Amino acid sequence: MKKKIAVLPGDGIGPEVTKQAVKVLEAVAHRFGHEFEYEKALVGAAAIDETGDPLPDETLQVCLDSDAILFGSIGDPKYDNDPKAKVRPEQGLLKLRKSLGLYANIRPVKTYKSLIDHSPLKKERVEGTDLVVYRELTGGIYFGEKGRSEDGESAYDHCNYSVEEIERIATMAFEAAQNRRKKLTLVDKANVLETSRLWRQTVQAKAPNYPDVDVEYLFVDNAAMQLILRPNQFDVILTENMFGDIISDESSVITGSIGLLPSASIGEKNSLFEPIHGSYPQAAGKDIANPVAAILSVAMMLDHFGLHEEAEMINTNVDHMIKKGLVTQDLDDHNFITCSKVGDVLSLLLDKTVSNARF
Ligand code: IPM
Ligand code: MN
Repeated sequence: MKKKIAVLPGDGIGPEVTKQAVKVLEAVAHRFGHEFEYEKALVGAAAIDETGDPLPDETLQVCLDSDAILFGSIGDPKYDNDPKAKVRPEQGLLKLRKSLGLYANIRPVKTYKSLIDHSPLKKERVEGTDLVVYRELTGGIYFGEKGRSEDGESAYDHCNYSVEEIERIATMAFEAAQNRRKKLTLVDKANVLETSRLWRQTVQAKAPNYPDVDVEYLFVDNAAMQLILRPNQFDVILTENMFGDIISDESSVITGSIGLLPSASIGEKNSLFEPIHGSYPQAAGKDIANPVAAILSVAMMLDHFGLHEEAEMINTNVDHMIKKGLVTQDLDDHNFITCSKVGDVLSLLLDKTVSNARF
């Protein structure tokens, strides 16, 4: 198979984890005879520094011309404490999601038996957790009209949703549930918000089309609590943009390290794959970041291409490495390997014909 992949390393640890992900992708390509062509482009603070724009037109074009996008991470602390900043790195990612219509953000969360002691929760609570968050990504409060009053003393962010926006991601979530443990939880705030009532109404209307799926409705505050109390009760969580942002970060720590979790953002024509972690600027350039989330994002990309065997092989080998204790510093402070070593070991496991000499 031949594919064109846009590589957007972004900020902080983005470039180093993305490099390992590409290394692993190359090992897969070599083993299975695929041809992946990469085109790098600037995004985020890195793009602002060079061009003044967090998503230069050229980057958008590279993405439009590719079969998939591999994204690193975005964000730089120099923008965080300046509420008056006109341009921010995050705008690059938001504009990319909107321009490419990447409406469904899929974030799987599962436990690794060997890492269960890393969870901030008791082992008995975490055991067996295997859930996936379907987060709507191009609507809601993130993209509603926003502004300030003339005197600057008040501000607003509008939250809008249409039935169509809800339906398209709900369909994906229902189908995912059918292929998993057949449970779907809609997380909303229908006791307060009109948009949430529209979500609930739309999902209720769809439910009879999926008689094998058990549908449950939870208010977001309760869902936040349930995730800590009994995370293994969840299968597919469906939710709007902002709740999904919060709930997916919360879910990610349950398993022990946010450095392990990949994500896929899917639209009608385009798709983007990225770790769910941020740019972790304190670790940038030190070769200590955990590249597993980026590597598993590549596995999600391969799955999306229909290359299931290849994806499975990455997942199995990551499991194997973690079991063997070959992990980065975030998971073992005493006995750890570097970010680039993770990529090297995995490439070797995936493609035995890769010469040791390469490392
Ligand atoms: C995420 C991030 C983004 C979001 C930021 C960087 C804009 O937190 O992908 O979850 O809020 O969606
Ligand atoms: Mn987030």
